[in-house]
Amino acid sequence: MGRELCIRGTFAHTQQLGEFEIFHDHLLITNSFGVTTHFEAATSAQSQAQLAAQSSVTLPSGHFILPNFVDLHLHAPQFLYQGNGLHLPLMQWLDEYAFKAEERLDADPALARKVYTRLAHRLIQHGTGTVLFFGTIKEETNLILAQVMQNAGLRAFVGKLSMDMSSRPSYMESSTQTSLQAARSFVKKCRDLTSTLPQHERLVEPVLTPRFVPTCSDELLLGLGKLSAAESLKIQSHFAEAMDQVEFVRRQRGAEDIDVFDRASSGLLTSRTIQAHCTFLDLPSFQHVRSCRTAIAHCPLSNSYFSAEPFRLREALDEGVKVGLGTDIAGGYSLDIMNSMRHAVSVSRMRQGSKDIITGTAGDGSKSLAIDWKESLYLATKGGATALGLTTGAFAVGSPFDAQEIGLFDSNGSGVGAIDIFDAEELGSAQLSVTMEMVEKWWCLGDTRNRVRTWVQGAKLDSEISPLL
Ligand code: GUN
Ligand code: FE
Repeated sequence: MGRELCIRGTFAHTQQLGEFEIFHDHLLITNSFGVTTHFEAATSAQSQAQLAAQSSVTLPSGHFILPNFVDLHLHAPQFLYQGNGLHLPLMQWLDEYAFKAEERLDADPALARKVYTRLAHRLIQHGTGTVLFFGTIKEETNLILAQVMQNAGLRAFVGKLSMDMSSRPSYMESSTQTSLQAARSFVKKCRDLTSTLPQHERLVEPVLTPRFVPTCSDELLLGLGKLSAAESLKIQSHFAEAMDQVEFVRRQRGAEDIDVFDRASSGLLTSRTIQAHCTFLDLPSFQHVRSCRTAIAHCPLSNSYFSAEPFRLREALDEGVKVGLGTDIAGGYSLDIMNSMRHAVSVSRMRQGSKDIITGTAGDGSKSLAIDWKESLYLATKGGATALGLTTGAFAVGSPFDAQEIGLFDSNGSGVGAIDIFDAEELGSAQLSVTMEMVEKWWCLGDTRNRVRTWVQGAKLDSEISPLL
């Protein structure tokens, strides 16, 4: 149903950290499963034969196709109060905003459906095609989240929260065993949601989600580790996010997050695990995370509010840790991954002159701790996809077509949306081609006005927001 595409035009992606490629006049073809079967210069003999055999769509000049974004860390229920309450430190903010909002959605399925439906459409508008979600405690609310995302056509990894301890007695599971049983039950029901669909239409997957160490007993963590191994389930949590949280765990458990998590070979740090933040991890911890092939969801805007220190992104990348970007709604107020990319770059640039934890030397300008826009684009696309074990995030034969079309300028060379072009010739638009400089301009200034369409698994997504929602 509409997954067979034959598109001629400009494509761009970043397959490796720091490498950005523009493919002018290329032809991309997908099959009925939404998987790319052909990606070559449109002038090649193979492409010419394809063009002679079937009808194709040609992108307007000034447009290009990019992989869509992966949000590696988003609290779906917190979308309810996005943009409020960021004056508090993390542990207080969780008590006064996050837990309350989540409890409200667990008590009101109609409200949950409304919030999640609006969220799905906002994500599509912002070019996000894949999301790793934190949900709430209650099964029913998480099944609503999974069904809404499946219906919207988004690739969604849905985490029912596991919490057998809490600062809010009305918002926790009644015992460790109840919590483990609820995790098992959600996994089954979430899988059942799509079990009658053909494989390529199954977009949602359950993820084990011990919220963070303060809300999970050792017994619960061990039980979830076993469940993950038995059922090959992904795991997500938060590590070493903020000073008040790190100190809370030291008082509560007499240890660091990572040690509590990894105690007794819990089986929680795996190649299927994604940990948010990791702001306060030291070099041996990065090495340990790397050796477990666990990924990190970097959430720079949220860190700016809660963490007091920047994540050591360059060091994590140099160590070979898998990293992607997250918005951390509502600890971060923006669900636009474009903003996560910009914040990742700004925060990393502010680290110049800081101590490099790998070499132990104060930055003297000889080695940059900053990342640039192309590296941030890698994190937002291929980096996030790799963290989730997906082959999306770049264009290749055999990969599902998860993409977005961006319009930079029109056929007269006039910029679209917030992009102004004064010197068309210098920017290459006189020849009406998409250049690196134009893509960089979009990275800095672009917004939803530049987004023409998005696809997941070859299917075009609907970004219309009903006025009732
Ligand atoms: N740590 C535990 N729960 C949360 C949450 O909801 N948001 C953030 N930012 N950190 C957390
Ligand atoms: Fe979070």
